[in-house]
Amino acid sequence: MTDGDHFQNEFDRDRAAKFDHEFDKLSPLKDALHLLAQLCFREAGVRKNARALLVGVGTGAELFYLADAFPRWEFVALDTSQDMLTQCVKGCEQRGLLDRVTFFHGPVSLLGDAEPFDLATSFLVSHFLTTAKRREAFYADIAARLWPEGVLFSADLIADRRAPGFDDDMARWLEMLRYSGKTAPEVEQMRAAFDARLSLIGRDDFRHLLQRAGFPRARVVGQTFLIHGWFARRG
Ligand SMILES: C[S@@+](CC[C@H](N)C(=O)[O-])C[C@H]1O[C@@H](n2cnc3c(N)ncnc32)[C@H](O)[C@@H]1O
Repeated sequence: MTDGDHFQNEFDRDRAAKFDHEFDKLSPLKDALHLLAQLCFREAGVRKNARALLVGVGTGAELFYLADAFPRWEFVALDTSQDMLTQCVKGCEQRGLLDRVTFFHGPVSLLGDAEPFDLATSFLVSHFLTTAKRREAFYADIAARLWPEGVLFSADLIADRRAPGFDDDMARWLEMLRYSGKTAPEVEQMRAAFDARLSLIGRDDFRHLLQRAGFPRARVVGQTFLIHGWFARRG
């Protein structure tokens, strides 16, 4: 793990402490994305003793799921928030996973030239990168660290404000937040953040972005409201 909090983002200590239970009532939606990822990796024939790069691993939800599903995989768990990683380390200690995980604090671009990875994941991360250019660089950095036959599962907010139906999609999204237990002011705040702090592009634009980044045949394999699950092979 690198020193300091130079890369710290909005996922600070307070947010990290409550992150695991913030959306408990929506966990079936996250479970569905994890299951999709597992099935995609199985179908792709990822080797049994694979090395996995988990980008934006946060407090470790996908790490714990995949470690259980694939008992011989080894992981690099990477995040730009030290506070989220600290929670992740605790979760690994509790589950006896520390000997299978290396932690890295910082962006993928600073990850050294270790042996390439068989697969990478990015769950609910790239929409926090506020320009399409940064998002493309983010995925290009991931592609550069995979074997040529390496694969990626990425779950991202996909929405095009100009598209017909966007207002209906947004209304359902806000209903989902209310159902999760958010108060009216919190929902309002999250709606505002949606416009101000997230990078939103439509499905075709995002597919092209992944193509340019080094994932030429990226496909949507599932969707939970605005969150799209993408699966792609490098090259
Ligand atoms: C919404 S959380 C998702 C955490 C976890 N993947 C999950 O699904 O539970 C987004 C995570 O991405 C991390 N993050 C944001 N930008 C990042 C970047 N450029 N590189 C790596 N991690 C990043 C944040 O610190 C945060 O932990």
